[in-house]
Amino acid sequence: MHYDIRDTDHDCKILALCGSVRRGSLNRRLLDLAARGVTEAGGEVTFANLADYPLPFYDAELEADEGVPEAARRLQQCVAEHHGLLVASPEYNGGYTALLKNAIDWVSRPLPDGRSGVTLVAGKAAALVSASPGPLGGLRSQSALRTVLDKLGMLVVPESFALGLAHEAWGEDGRMRSEPAERQVVAVGAALHRVVARLN
Ligand SMILES: Cc1cc2nc3c(=O)[nH]c(=O)nc-3n(C[C@H](O)[C@H](O)[C@H](O)COP(=O)(O)O)c2cc1C
Repeated sequence: MHYDIRDTDHDCKILALCGSVRRGSLNRRLLDLAARGVTEAGGEVTFANLADYPLPFYDAELEADEGVPEAARRLQQCVAEHHGLLVASPEYNGGYTALLKNAIDWVSRPLPDGRSGVTLVAGKAAALVSASPGPLGGLRSQSALRTVLDKLGMLVVPESFALGLAHEAWGEDGRMRSEPAERQVVAVGAALHRVVARLN
């Protein structure tokens, strides 16, 4: 397994993660749109569906007895191969989802070569969006997640978008009803691309 970015045609490879694996997830929909901002700017986006990384709740005894699970190793490798993260973060009870936190906690665990998993994200960029049927659009989940990513050494770009009343936001043509809102979501991806390009 490799835990570094390998030679690639793209100098901006972004890993897109959604904190919900629900079919019809509003956050996943928003993530697709923000990802467009990355690709339109010339970057490459990989979507990692957390359902493909079935992880037990982090438990130090389980880790001591059985080691880091295979799905966590795959997720660590996936993170390693990207220059930045684009995250859509649903809000559960004022925070972000346990699914997302558990994935982050496992990724942060030591690599087979002894380095900390935190080295996989430290110094890389991240951007956040969120969607909720509520009026605040999951903004509180972004604040909480921003604190965690900051602690891990990530540079979280100031551009973000929280889509309130998200269940009413899309028209039947698949576009957002509000063009300015759609532009701002795309701009989040573009901002992430810009920062990654400068960091490189
Ligand atoms: C346990 C739970 C707690 C929730 N708490 C909040 C909340 O604090 N704020 C909010 O705006 N929405 C809250 N919601 C509603 C979610 O924002 C809504 O289910 C949303 O559609 C989830 O994201 P998804 O569509 O990407 O799956 C909560 C939903 C659940 C299941």
